[in-house]
Amino acid sequence: MTQIQDFAGHCVLISGGGGSIGRATAMMFLNRGARVTLADRDQGRLDAVLAELAPLGPATGVVAELSTDDGAATAVAATPGVTIVFANAGISGPVMPVQDMVAADWDNIFAANLRSMALTLAHGARAMIAAGTKGAIVTMGSSMAGWDVLAGGAGYLATKHAVLGLTKSAALDLAPHGIRVNAVCPGVIETALGVPGLDATRVAADRFARAIPLRRIGQPEDVAEVVAFLASDGARHVTGASWLIDGGQTLQSFANGPETGSYPLRT
Ligand SMILES: NC(=O)c1ccc[n+]([C@@H]2O[C@H](COP(=O)([O-])OP(=O)(O)OC[C@H]3O[C@@H](n4cnc5c(N)ncnc54)[C@H](O)[C@@H]3O)[C@@H](O)[C@H]2O)c1
Repeated sequence: MTQIQDFAGHCVLISGGGGSIGRATAMMFLNRGARVTLADRDQGRLDAVLAELAPLGPATGVVAELSTDDGAATAVAATPGVTIVFANAGISGPVMPVQDMVAADWDNIFAANLRSMALTLAHGARAMIAAGTKGAIVTMGSSMAGWDVLAGGAGYLATKHAVLGLTKSAALDLAPHGIRVNAVCPGVIETALGVPGLDATRVAADRFARAIPLRRIGQPEDVAEVVAFLASDGARHVTGASWLIDGGQTLQSFANGPETGSYPLRT
């Protein structure tokens, strides 16, 4: 019997491939038989990840500013026969109150998080349509920034809320071509972006873990597993969905938050 998550013959484009979640997802796809192309605007980060991936399987990299048509087109062209796109690139942006944000702040976060995602998705979809490929696209949303509210995070929140709309709209437009589009929405993931002040002592990471109902902080591999499922044939009837991967973080409210003692603490 064919394994549902055997990705042999698949060509996967991962944007933001020089980052932590991109790296973990690339490893997972390589370990399950796919060819992988990583696209990132940071050559140093890209090279470091590619060096780690080399023993695992066929991985290539392309330096591209994905918020431009040229950059997104270059990334897709570097992924011949693309069947899966993980539009993951993004930044957290500055933390500042909304009243202090000026046009350049909005442009910067929209370009990095939203325009780059829309263009990666569009160029990837066009290549699949041209080749008659019934592929899968996974976008990168956020649990805190898509369901919750972050003080000082208006720019990041606006982009991650928008990802949910983009995902649903793209899912409808691409359904006639047999291309599925779904979003992953991670909570706090143990990366430099997700945990400000992350260091070897893990003090900051442990503080987050104590505030999450499942009592652990998310790992990049937790996200990679859901990306794999959404990209796999097992999710053949799933499109336009947004999958929370947050250990129950957004189930909490004023009435049942971690300080209320409404669920038992585990040590
Ligand atoms: N870490 C978390 O807790 C968390 C939670 C929810 C969502 N996310 C989202 O996951 C994604 C990846 O996060 P991460 O923690 O791996 O961050 P990361 O900083 O390790 O990786 C992001 C990568 O994207 C690249 N990038 C950003 N904008 C780009 C652009 N316009 N063109 C090309 N490359 C670009 C960066 O150079 C970087 O290598 C982001 O979209 C982030 O918003 C992260």
